[in-house]
Parts: sequence; structure tokens; C-alpha cells
Amino acid sequence: MMITATATAAAMLMLLQQAPAEGTDWDAEFGVEQKQRDPVTGELPVDPYEQSNANAGAAPYDSAKLVADFGGREGIARIAARTVDLSEADPRIADIFAAHDMVRLKRTLGEQFCFLLGAGCDYTGRDMRSAHAEMGVTKADLNALVENLQRAMGEAGVPFSSQYRLLAKLAPMSRDVVVR
Ligand code: HEM
Repeated sequence: MMITATATAAAMLMLLQQAPAEGTDWDAEFGVEQKQRDPVTGELPVDPYEQSNANAGAAPYDSAKLVADFGGREGIARIAARTVDLSEADPRIADIFAAHDMVRLKRTLGEQFCFLLGAGCDYTGRDMRSAHAEMGVTKADLNALVENLQRAMGEAGVPFSSQYRLLAKLAPMSRDVVVR
């Protein structure tokens, strides 16, 4: 019994001696990189990738009426940003968004919608498979996001026929986004 107590005390003492000094920079200890937001765009940096409109996942429409139904480029950007805001505040999927850069997502999602709707933007984001890798998105998560997009389009007064045209472009991309 005595030996055990002594051994325990010795082990405790060893642990205490190994305790690092106060003010240890744990990020440096574990090689964690501190990412800084770009002072101009407010975005966090991402690993390099090849930019191409092909990353948007589908070919664009060519219809001035469709673009007008979405309120032009500004309307499209607002709808994308609103979809992101609704999703970030949606308890069903908020956790997935919390860990990512919403400043960038508002821009890239807006570019993707603008490109697909034929409003003349280039898409500069990543392809759908790489963008959602390791995210573990489910069919239910996708349905929640689509509901939020439909709400954003509805609030903006986009006619249903035009809403469905955007959704039709996005639907086949679900196979690159949803893992289960
Ligand atoms: C067909 C459906 C979807 C489309 C078209 C889509 C589109 C996009 C686009 C364009 C990006 C930006 C890529 C980049 O910044 O390089 C992105 C990123 C992201 N998407 Fe989706 N998405 C879809 C489904 C979903 C779903 C269902 C969720 C979660 C519920 C989700 C969560 C995210 C998140 C959190 C990011 C940020 C990734 C990062 O910053 O690393 N997406 N998505």
C-alpha cells in the first residue's frame, strides 16, 4: 500500500515537472496555422485550386427573361446571401455552416447562381465534389438547404417557373455533395 502511494506521488511529481510553462503557444506546439482574413475581401485563404467555370457544375442558361426574373446580378447576389444567412440560422444544418467561411460562400454561391442563370459572371470557386468533401452532407441536409433557397427566391418574388429552372441545374449536383 505504502509503495503504491509513493509511486503515485512520484508519478504526480514527474507530471508536474513536465507541465509546460504558462503562456505556451499551443497552436505553435501542434503546428496549427492561424489563418488571417483578407483585409479587403474579409475572406479566409483556401488551398490553391484551378479556377474554371466548369467548376460550377453545369452549363449556363441563355435567357434575358430568366435573369430579369431573378432581379439581375444584384438580385441573384442577394438571393445567394439570403440562402446562406437562412442556412446559418437553420438549426437543422447550422453546425455544418458554422465551421466554414460564410463571407466566401456568399460570394462563390452568388457567382455560381449568376453563372448558371446566364447573368454573365465567372465562377471562381471550387468544384462541388471538392467543396463538400469531408462535410458528411445528408439528403435531409440537402432538402433543408433547398427549402432555404426556395424561401429566399420566394421572398425576392422570383416566379415559380424560374425558381424551378435554377433548381433543375442544381439537382444533379447533389450526387457530388451528398454522401449518405
Ligand atoms: C446541389 C447543392 C449544392 C450546391 C450547388 C452548393 C454550392 C456550393 C458552392 C458554390 C460552394 C463554394 C465553393 C468554394 O467556395 O470554393 C459551396 C460550399 C459550401 N457548401 Fe454547398 N452546395 C450545395 C449543397 C450544400 C449542402 C446541402 C450543404 C450543407 C447543408 C452545403 C454546405 C456548404 C458549406 C458549409 C460550404 C463551404 C465550404 C468551405 O468553405 O470549405 N452545401 N457550396
